[in-house]
Amino acid sequence: MSVVKVGLLGLGTVGGGVVKTIRAQQEKLSARLGRRIEIVKALVRDTRKQRAVQVEPSLLTTRFADVLESDVDIVVEVMGGVEPTYDYVRALIQKGCHVVTANKELLAKRGAELVELANRHGVHLAYEASVAGGIPILGVLRQFLRTNDIAEVRGILNGTTNFILSQMEEAQLPYADVLKRAQELGYAEADPRADVEGWDALYKLYILAQLVFGESLPLSAIERQGIADLSQGHIRLAKELGYRIKLLAQARREDGGLHLSVRPTLVPLGHPLARIRDAYNAVQVEGSLVGDLLFTGKGAGELPTASAVVEDLAFLLTQPFTPHPAWRERPTAVPSSRLSSGL
Ligand code: NAP
Ligand code: HSE
Repeated sequence: MSVVKVGLLGLGTVGGGVVKTIRAQQEKLSARLGRRIEIVKALVRDTRKQRAVQVEPSLLTTRFADVLESDVDIVVEVMGGVEPTYDYVRALIQKGCHVVTANKELLAKRGAELVELANRHGVHLAYEASVAGGIPILGVLRQFLRTNDIAEVRGILNGTTNFILSQMEEAQLPYADVLKRAQELGYAEADPRADVEGWDALYKLYILAQLVFGESLPLSAIERQGIADLSQGHIRLAKELGYRIKLLAQARREDGGLHLSVRPTLVPLGHPLARIRDAYNAVQVEGSLVGDLLFTGKGAGELPTASAVVEDLAFLLTQPFTPHPAWRERPTAVPSSRLSSGL
């Protein structure tokens, strides 16, 4: 049986999950693809570090050139950040390599250029894992949008902050302790300010808007507020008044324009989004034909995220290349004062 050579950029929480998933599902994947998936190189910062997954020491490298020169068919980018990641992904695409990434920051900041480059070189750029972890939301919406229009998408897009808010309410643990637990569980970003200040949810919302509306806003035009200033007192008071505080991401097309926001929001206790607990995510859309749809599932963590990465890998190995729609940005947002009321 022939082999698909896969390179990894990063072997941390998600990269480790990808190795475990490929090993656990190898038989099923080989039967479906008619080829065996083999990881031939993994770029890391420190080759001597103890890892949650054991790999042949010869696979590990700290030199990107080793990945570039190892004749890989596909690279899975799970190292995070924009620099040097953008340069690495660019070089791989230029070499004709397909790329699967879970990196929402990279996509939100440099996605338009990467999409254009991948189209020019006729390679796949796949990124299901970048939004809502294990929920296969991008694939489902891509299919759904063939028939339905969507005027608004909203949801809980960050597992770490939802975990923090849930645990502060249910276990009455202090913010700092719960954040530490979210880091231990592999939910948080390398710099957790990206989670608690709302950046991570903002990047995901940007990507969702590109898919749902065919355009987004510049990141600076997206309203953003995080949860770092919320206390147990706020959470308790909200509950007494019949609400739960959720870090809600909302994107709406109205008046021919777009408005995107990420902010702590009072969600009525009876609303389905109020029931999303721990590191779960949720995405709610209103389809013009179907009406209200809600997708929920694990939004962060090793295996849920690896599931989305490996789905992409299997998908692109069975699909011919088709150009990806170009990513565009509208220069300004519709002012929120002109929008009809939300939740
Ligand atoms: P992580 O645990 O911090 O792993 C990052 C990996 O990349 C590590 O193996 C690290 O090497 C390597 N790395 C980082 N910078 C590097 C550099 N400059 N050169 C070489 N290697 C480098 O991160 P993660 O949680 O797996 O997340 C990875 C990506 O997936 C991020 O873009 C994140 O936003 C995204 N994501 C994460 C989750 C999640 O639940 N964790 C979910 C969805 C998407 P060492 O191991 O040697 O330090
Ligand atoms: N830090 C992210 C979160 C990982 O907590 O949602 C999943 O993208």
